[in-house]
Amino acid sequence: MSAMMQSAPGMLASQTPVVSCRDLRKTYMLGENPLEVLKGVSFDIMPAEFVAIMGPSGSGKSTLLNLIGALDTPTSGGLSLAGTNIADLDSDALARLRNRLIGFVFQQFNLLRRTSSLENVKLPLLYSPQSVADADALALEKLTEVGLADRCDHTAAQLSGGQQQRVAIARALVTNPKLILADEPTGALDTKTSQDIMELFSNLHRRGMTIIMVTHEPEIAAYAERLLRFRDGLLVEDVRQEPQVTP
Ligand SMILES: Nc1ncnc2c1ncn2[C@@H]1O[C@H](COP(=O)(O)OP(=O)(O)O)[C@@H](O)[C@H]1O
Ligand SMILES: [Mg+2]
Repeated sequence: MSAMMQSAPGMLASQTPVVSCRDLRKTYMLGENPLEVLKGVSFDIMPAEFVAIMGPSGSGKSTLLNLIGALDTPTSGGLSLAGTNIADLDSDALARLRNRLIGFVFQQFNLLRRTSSLENVKLPLLYSPQSVADADALALEKLTEVGLADRCDHTAAQLSGGQQQRVAIARALVTNPKLILADEPTGALDTKTSQDIMELFSNLHRRGMTIIMVTHEPEIAAYAERLLRFRDGLLVEDVRQEPQVTP
């Protein structure tokens, strides 16, 4: 088991947080009835941190990740991404910031099933000014990084779940983001495949990637070095831990 260390990590004042939330709130309207999902959440995530977000089903984990990923907007409160307050951006500028800063990984991989691995990985580059030759080379580089260079021409439908998640991780990396957001990335995978995927995240983290990962499985959260636990729309625990490495 991972040993808990101190709570509330001491941050270097000189660094800009990758993510800074201040009294972040999200309320959904269900007809007439407000559903308060996030009730005022504040924390900073610094460059190169590997953070696991835990909490019971329905506690607002995906809602929070979607806010951090600028896929949804807060009801109130402050959110800065790499030092930019998102409230200062129009939707085009926000989309550019998202594309430049963030790579997304989802539980269900979200690949185009009849499309090759290479083309799937290239998709985020449609929104950036890369030439086609550069895009092919970059996509191949990222597929090689996740150990799938020999599966470039396979369609997603021809790959196992673990291989599909590797393609999705290559796709998340292809724009060279600063931050990876992963929502239950092993939720659709068996135990052994989950460990392989977590090893991949651990390696990315060791090379300096900032990772925020939602999971409800303690053995998956164990790979992170910091744990944020949510309950009833509030942050109830923020601890550092010795990250697990698979022997
Ligand atoms: N777009 C939405 N409209 C209304 N309610 C929503 C919406 N998205 C999520 N919710 C509700 O917000 C709560 C938190 O959802 P979610 O963030 O998905 O939780 P978690 O990921 O922790 O399981 C749930 O009660 C869910 O039903
Ligand atoms: Mg969720």
